[in-house]
Amino acid sequence: MSGTASAVKYRAPAKVNVSLEVVGRRPDGYHEIVSVMQTVSLSDEIEIIDGSEILFTCSEPGLGGNDNLVPRAARLLQSASRSTEGAQMRLVKSIPHGAGLGGGSSDAATVLRVLNDRWDLGLSLAQLVGLGARLGSDVPFFLHGGSALVTGRGEFVDPLPTSKPVWYALIKPPISVPTSTVFNALLPSDWTDGMVTRDIACGMSKGASVQLGVNGLQHTLFTIFPATRECFEEVSQAAPGRAFISGSGPTIAVLCGTRNEAKQVISAVANEDRWCAIVQSTGRNDA
Ligand code: C5P
Repeated sequence: MSGTASAVKYRAPAKVNVSLEVVGRRPDGYHEIVSVMQTVSLSDEIEIIDGSEILFTCSEPGLGGNDNLVPRAARLLQSASRSTEGAQMRLVKSIPHGAGLGGGSSDAATVLRVLNDRWDLGLSLAQLVGLGARLGSDVPFFLHGGSALVTGRGEFVDPLPTSKPVWYALIKPPISVPTSTVFNALLPSDWTDGMVTRDIACGMSKGASVQLGVNGLQHTLFTIFPATRECFEEVSQAAPGRAFISGSGPTIAVLCGTRNEAKQVISAVANEDRWCAIVQSTGRNDA
């Protein structure tokens, strides 16, 4: 958080899913997942000025509508708490959209957290998680931040200790992937029992460093968007055994021990069409 007395800037971090298993499909159409997620140092910024109504603008004009999760989160909080407060909010995007990095959900979580404080509502984290789950499956995770085992459709978040920070090289091929497109094309053959991911979480809860797992959406992503497979194979050649798809993609993350290692991966695979970044895992919001 930083800024002047009247306008304050808040960060909304991106995430990676170091492992993501789909356990099955629920009657409501959503899927049960088991995932280890980590927030990272890439973030959007939300500038907030107190106001009497909810006003919203965005650095990306295409995302500046009233259906953006930022004004939706503010309206949901306003109606749930029967508050008459408002806020003037400006979202400056750095996290690419449709990337599997959770940008929109993180923006929503930041708005819930920050306006709960600024409007002096006193809602508990559990109450915010309940509201957040109505906005998007990843919002509960972002209300905690750091590292966590995430289950259900995303609403159950078990925080994990953030051991030594790790680095990730992020590479996004030039397409945007709607999460629903990938989830809706899953087949029962893509489902697994979640144990690979639970084992990683169990190790981390005992202080082990983060390990890569599996991604149950990857096969479907590669089938629908073959360009993501090509990019993934190229990155995997540059960093054998360390590349994974984050969430529903198409961003490919590479687990690295040092910033320099991440830089080497990016230099090997960067081209003008690909968005690339070097990030570090970050701790919990309340840490
Ligand atoms: O919850 P969110 O709006 O982010 O989800 C976008 C879409 O992804 C949902 O409409 C659903 O099709 C799919 N989804 C799912 N199971 C989840 C999370 C998302 O099927 N656990």
